[in-house]
Amino acid sequence: MATIRSLWTSSFLCAHVLGQAYNPGGREEGAFSYVQPLNTTILGPYGHSPAVLPSPNATGDGGWEAAFVKAQAFAAQLTVEEKADMVTGQPGPCVGNIVAIPRVGFNGLCLQDGPLAIRVADYASVFSAGVSAAATWDKDILYERGFAMGQEFRAKGAHVALTPVAGPLGRSGYAGRNWEGFAADPYLTGVAMELSINGIQDAGVQATPKHFIGNEQERQRNPTYDPNGTVTDILFEAISANIDDRTMHELYLWPFANAVRAKAASIMCAYQRLNGSYACENSKVQNGLLKEELGFQGYVMSDWGGTHSGVASIENGLDMNMPGGLGNYGLFPQAGSLFGGNLTRAINNGSVAESRVDDMIIRIMTPYYWLGQDKDFPTVDPSSADLNTFSPRRTWLREFNLTGPRSRDVRDDHGELIRKHGSAGTVLLKNENNALPLKAPKSIAIFGNDAGDDTQGFYNQVDFEYGTLTAGGGSGTGRLTYLVTPLVAIQNRAAQDKALVQYWLNNTLIVNSNVTDLWIPEQPDVCLVFLKTWAEEAADRQHLSVDWHGNEVVESVAKSCNNTIVVTHSSGINTLPFASHPNVTAILAAHFPGQESGNSLVDILYGTTNPSGHLPYTIALNGTDYNAPPTTAINTTGINDWQSWFDEKLEIDYRYFDAHNLSVRYEFGFGLSYTTFSLSDLAGSPLRDDITSAPEKLPVQPGGNPALWESIYNVTVSVSNTGEVAGAAVPQLYVGFPSATTPAGTPPRQLRGFDKVMLEVGETRTVAFELMRRDLSFWDVVSQQWVIPAGEFTLSVGLSSRDLRDFATITPVEA
Ligand SMILES: *[C@@H]1O[C@H](CO)[C@@H](O)[C@H](O)[C@H]1NC(C)=O
Ligand SMILES: *[C@@H]1O[C@H](CO)[C@@H](O)[C@H](O)[C@H]1NC(C)=O
Ligand SMILES: *[C@@H]1O[C@H](CO)[C@@H](O)[C@H](O)[C@H]1NC(C)=O
Ligand SMILES: *[C@@H]1O[C@H](CO)[C@@H](O)[C@H](O)[C@H]1NC(C)=O
Ligand SMILES: *[C@@H]1O[C@H](CO)[C@@H](O)[C@H](O)[C@H]1NC(C)=O
Ligand SMILES: *[C@@H]1O[C@H](CO)[C@@H](O)[C@H](O)[C@H]1NC(C)=O
Ligand SMILES: *[C@@H]1O[C@H](CO)[C@@H](O)[C@H](O)[C@H]1NC(C)=O
Ligand SMILES: *[C@@H]1O[C@H](CO)[C@@H](O)[C@H](O)[C@H]1NC(C)=O
Ligand SMILES: *[C@@H]1O[C@H](CO)[C@@H](O)[C@H](O)[C@H]1NC(C)=O
Ligand SMILES: *[C@@H]1O[C@H](CO)[C@@H](O)[C@H](O)[C@H]1NC(C)=O
Ligand SMILES: *[C@@H]1O[C@H](CO)[C@@H](O)[C@H](O)[C@H]1NC(C)=O
Ligand SMILES: *[C@@H]1O[C@H](CO)[C@@H](O)[C@H](O)[C@H]1NC(C)=O
Repeated sequence: MATIRSLWTSSFLCAHVLGQAYNPGGREEGAFSYVQPLNTTILGPYGHSPAVLPSPNATGDGGWEAAFVKAQAFAAQLTVEEKADMVTGQPGPCVGNIVAIPRVGFNGLCLQDGPLAIRVADYASVFSAGVSAAATWDKDILYERGFAMGQEFRAKGAHVALTPVAGPLGRSGYAGRNWEGFAADPYLTGVAMELSINGIQDAGVQATPKHFIGNEQERQRNPTYDPNGTVTDILFEAISANIDDRTMHELYLWPFANAVRAKAASIMCAYQRLNGSYACENSKVQNGLLKEELGFQGYVMSDWGGTHSGVASIENGLDMNMPGGLGNYGLFPQAGSLFGGNLTRAINNGSVAESRVDDMIIRIMTPYYWLGQDKDFPTVDPSSADLNTFSPRRTWLREFNLTGPRSRDVRDDHGELIRKHGSAGTVLLKNENNALPLKAPKSIAIFGNDAGDDTQGFYNQVDFEYGTLTAGGGSGTGRLTYLVTPLVAIQNRAAQDKALVQYWLNNTLIVNSNVTDLWIPEQPDVCLVFLKTWAEEAADRQHLSVDWHGNEVVESVAKSCNNTIVVTHSSGINTLPFASHPNVTAILAAHFPGQESGNSLVDILYGTTNPSGHLPYTIALNGTDYNAPPTTAINTTGINDWQSWFDEKLEIDYRYFDAHNLSVRYEFGFGLSYTTFSLSDLAGSPLRDDITSAPEKLPVQPGGNPALWESIYNVTVSVSNTGEVAGAAVPQLYVGFPSATTPAGTPPRQLRGFDKVMLEVGETRTVAFELMRRDLSFWDVVSQQWVIPAGEFTLSVGLSSRDLRDFATITPVEA
């Protein structure tokens, strides 16, 4: 307990002094003080976050100017009570609700989960999860998936989709929600965020990138409330993610910058604390990073129950309190709200400036007008109200006008897209003796509890034993309207070959059997083993293995079957200890593919689709090889003692394994195809001749200084299909910074470009990667800007982060 660690480069303090978490409605009750001298007795060695005040007004810059004027006019018409309503959630038909103000023709806002489906809905699609979408490395699919999801949200009357996810980013493979997000890499996640947001918002729905920021584990993400106290009495505060300034910029903030640049309507702040103060009342990240540095013009909404103060949160940048009530997850609307009536009072007695509340409302209404949500927006489907277990009708305090048609079918032809997306997110990890694609096998044996139908319904919120996994649990799941299981899809396809298909779905039975006693008449042509790994919100994973004794299932089958093909349906990393077993001829990581799971897989197994998925994370040899595990326990009783120091800094996932030259099983970016590719002629040429180390200081636009987004190099490479079938290659560009001029701790190689290119047999195409200024910069904590170090960069292009095929150097700034 000795040294004070200086985070954010600032030595003082503290958007939120420990112990003053609950400032209900105004300064008169809480004597809230933002800037105090650093008091190490209070703060101990914990992280600090400097105050950044006041909260910047929105301007509508960057294309929202006309909508901004409408939003200003809207706000000007409202009474103080109506203003409080505009920023405070209410129980109602959706997961989050802003009530209508019929007097001014405003029909309210409906906010719905989540990242792979409109969750609280009937007759809606369940898409592939974020991890699957990232594993496609396919920009067209990332956009198309977002657009199709946006269409479904809109048709159900949801103005705001609580997606996409860049936090967790994947600091630890154990984190329970990684599958909701994309990749353990800020660049790939950033591209995925931008394209998903473009898709959702092009469909007329507001996107809500989340969880801002540092939400890298589930354990103690929320305070521990005293079960014997009132709804806000706390035994332990939430964990504090303590992140230094450079790591914040280069890893965790990076994809949110893409999201702001894509003009995301809203950003959801995270549950946990960040350098000592709750993310939803942390002025450094909300006012400073998001609204000032990134020029965010939309609104910050709290995660559900993530608001822990009234005036303090508002002044520190929070614009909307969701779901509005008090206590754990905001589940107690009857107990009041830190906003709502308290805000009305705070405005009336001058504790909070009405102009700040106007800014909150303008931020909320600008994207609403920009997306045309004031015109012909579908009504909320009344079936939402019936399905909403979060705020069922009996909890409603206000009336909602549910007039539109009930149980609308919004699925359109999205099943076809989902089938394609599922295949594209399936990664072929091993393929010996050309085990795949299957060649019309006459005898197929199927093993494992992940192959067949779900036995506990289609709204899976628990780790049930029998049934295939298409998604994980929590607010990021979906309610299936149908499910094509692997078993049914294989049976259907195998019928074309009049094959014998035998199956055993009981893992215990398989583990305890000599499988030669199970099958007839002799060893099948192929043994397909289906394994699964559950993960869910509010819990981190206990291990990185597969569930339900899956490794033993593989051992039992592979002992007697020399053509064992393993398929995993998994939230993410599995260590796959059987990967080197000689009888395991192929492994497919099928992730969480959504409702067409079986069809997506059969297209790969039988070669209708050539696999082109690549890992969006690294598979180590052993779960203990990963650094930065979650903080799972503390032994002390101090209210602030849950702390997570991001001491690994930039060294997460491949950045760590590469920096320490550690062997892994399958590295980030890895994925096989049924064909082979070659890469050659890598070259980089500057797109301007006067590249400076520091960016030109241009007026901030959404996404930050526009100079950072300027393309300054064009890098090209030739990609050829050298094999015997058509297929899609994923060339990946990694950048190595000049070591002499870049601060210590810079990873050896970082992803800075990728593409997916379909190639016929023998075809060669040139792929171009435009490197933006940000791609060649590090965050300089001294000058507080992105800086291109002088000297020679190494460019490496490959088919994974370690299968590097060609190299080139560039020198943007002479030493
Ligand atoms: C720091 O906080 C402690 C505990 O509240 C208090 O006793 C002490 O006087 C404070 N020190 C300063 C310099 O304000
Ligand atoms: C925001 O705009 C209002 C006028 O609408 C002004 O009174 C207030 O000072 C501005 N706040 C900031 C932080 O600029
Ligand atoms: C709550 O009260 C019960 C009954 O008095 C007691 O057993 C329990 O330890 C208390 N829990 C906490 C966390 O104080
Ligand atoms: C104001 O906040 C307090 C908690 O600090 C809560 O008990 C009270 O019910 C709230 N008032 C209203 C009107 O929501
Ligand atoms: C309810 O909504 C419908 C459709 O938007 C509208 O026509 C009607 O006027 C609304 N009724 C009330 C009481 O707001
Ligand atoms: C699975 O197999 C085990 C071992 O044979 C058996 O004890 C168990 O009852 C089976 N489960 C089901 C659901 O049939
Ligand atoms: C399984 O049973 C067969 C037939 O009895 C026997 O030949 C084989 O050795 C057994 N395999 C194992 C792994 O026990
Ligand atoms: C592989 O499978 C064959 C049966 O085809 C079996 O004889 C052999 O022992 C298995 N090899 C291993 C290493 O289990
Ligand atoms: C697998 O076992 C079958 C049946 O024993 C045999 O015909 C085949 O050659 C074996 N394949 C390999 C690759 O060992
Ligand atoms: C993984 O590492 C741990 C700790 O070093 C070790 O105990 C364990 O045996 C390893 N597991 C495997 C499968 O190598
Ligand atoms: C808690 O104490 C136990 C027993 O002394 C120790 O093994 C464990 O590492 C400690 N955990 C933490 C998080 O300090
Ligand atoms: C980059 O190079 C490719 C291939 O020569 C070319 O088609 C593309 O226009 C170039 N991009 C820019 C921005 O110059």
